[in-house]
Amino acid sequence: MSQGILQEIDCGIRSLRVAKGLSLRDLARRAGVDETALRIAERGLDAPSDEFLEAVAGALHADMGALRTAQQALSEDAVAGEGYRTARPGAGFIKHRRQPPTPGSVKVLDLFCGTGGFSHGFEQTGLFQVIGGVDLLPDRIETFVLNHAYAAAVCGDIRSVNWSEALAGFPELEVVIGGPPCQGFSSIRPFRTLTEDDSRNNLVEKFALAVDSIRPKWFVMENVVGLLSNKGGETFRAVIEMFESMGYAVSWKVLNACLYGLPQRRERLIIVGNRQNVNFIWPAPTHYFEARSMAGKAHGQHASRAPLFGGMLSNAVTVMQAIGDLPPVAAGQSSIEYRTDLEPTEYQRAMRGTEAALTLHEATAHSARMLKIIRCSGSSRAALPEGMTRSGFSTSYSRLEADEPAVTITVNFVHPASNKCIHPQQDRALTPREGARLQGFPDSYKFSGNRAQVIKQIGNAVPPLLGRIIAQAVADQIL
Ligand SMILES: C[S@@+](CC[C@H](N)C(=O)[O-])C[C@H]1O[C@@H](n2cnc3c(N)ncnc32)[C@H](O)[C@@H]1O
Repeated sequence: MSQGILQEIDCGIRSLRVAKGLSLRDLARRAGVDETALRIAERGLDAPSDEFLEAVAGALHADMGALRTAQQALSEDAVAGEGYRTARPGAGFIKHRRQPPTPGSVKVLDLFCGTGGFSHGFEQTGLFQVIGGVDLLPDRIETFVLNHAYAAAVCGDIRSVNWSEALAGFPELEVVIGGPPCQGFSSIRPFRTLTEDDSRNNLVEKFALAVDSIRPKWFVMENVVGLLSNKGGETFRAVIEMFESMGYAVSWKVLNACLYGLPQRRERLIIVGNRQNVNFIWPAPTHYFEARSMAGKAHGQHASRAPLFGGMLSNAVTVMQAIGDLPPVAAGQSSIEYRTDLEPTEYQRAMRGTEAALTLHEATAHSARMLKIIRCSGSSRAALPEGMTRSGFSTSYSRLEADEPAVTITVNFVHPASNKCIHPQQDRALTPREGARLQGFPDSYKFSGNRAQVIKQIGNAVPPLLGRIIAQAVADQIL
């Protein structure tokens, strides 16, 4: 198979189909597969069977093995921005801030702000105030403004914002943060060739153009680890060069959130830049877990690893240490009361704060067939009796380990066919509250939207705790 095809299928069936200009229906017809099953496979909600994948790969002239690998990655690691693909963008509106920012705070703009997990982490330091956010989706903007009183927000496509004009009213911005969706990591062009009004700019380029117009002292860009290896590292090198050519001192690292106190093995690539020529000092891990890095050996020297003297750190926070104070609920049931019969752990206490009533603890009503699968499930799909499921990845229909941090929480954490999201001890998938706990959202964080939207908001967010750790390091070094 040519290298070209390998690159094309980095983001699975959907990217390849779109690149070939086929509608979902066209592809389903050509491959002779069911349209709904194709939609489910494209979204990474279920792993297609070999026959299915063979038919689709044939219709797309793609390599089946590589397509399977891409689909598995889609299921295991939420693609940044996933959710907006199937959701409806807003017609464009502006939300005004509820409170004027405080003099003396460091002002932050969040591009692709989503639910505001990243922003919340910055505000938790007490130094930063987020004064603006931009996102395509109305429900994300509603949640963002509910939780960020100093922020004005724009609901719209970032590609239609002209930063030179839009930012005239924000002279005090000092930090720009954001996680531009990868869009299959389309080619990054040399920065000097980009102009603001070129509609071909991809979202990473748009982020860079905004940084260049605003000229903040610092920027922080979050992305999936896959950016490092795209096109043999070429895309990533182009991104770094782009920021350096704008006069920023750039530093990057893959951080695994479980080494900083989050009950989740979520690895993300973080790029930090500053115009103050500061050699950024990365935060040292506070917790220990034997975690293998998705960044691989080639990038080992940059990847977060458990330190040599791991025994001196606290053990990583586990799933049950994060959610054990939430009462048992059966599939289809909910509860609004915390457990009172157990002494809360430090993490539970921090998440619960002073909340009296429990929210979002509503379990999915699984079908009778799914419940049968769930009752038999174990730590991998191999625990199921032979033939019980027709398709799936090794981690589909699997239970989270009670005494380890969770695997990466995706936007599909209420679907057992997705990556390891069945409760360790109860026969159901995680509730939205449990997902929010594993993502480090305090129970007081307010979510706007229907259940499906809230689940996507939670799964797609930068964990506030990871945001706070990075923000604190910036706070310690900003001049
Ligand atoms: C990974 S999520 C952001 C998560 C966010 N940083 C947080 O911590 O909650 C990416 C966001 O990009 C938004 N997005 C995608 N394409 C966009 C576009 N063209 N313009 C503006 N926002 C966009 C999506 O709606 C999604 O909320």
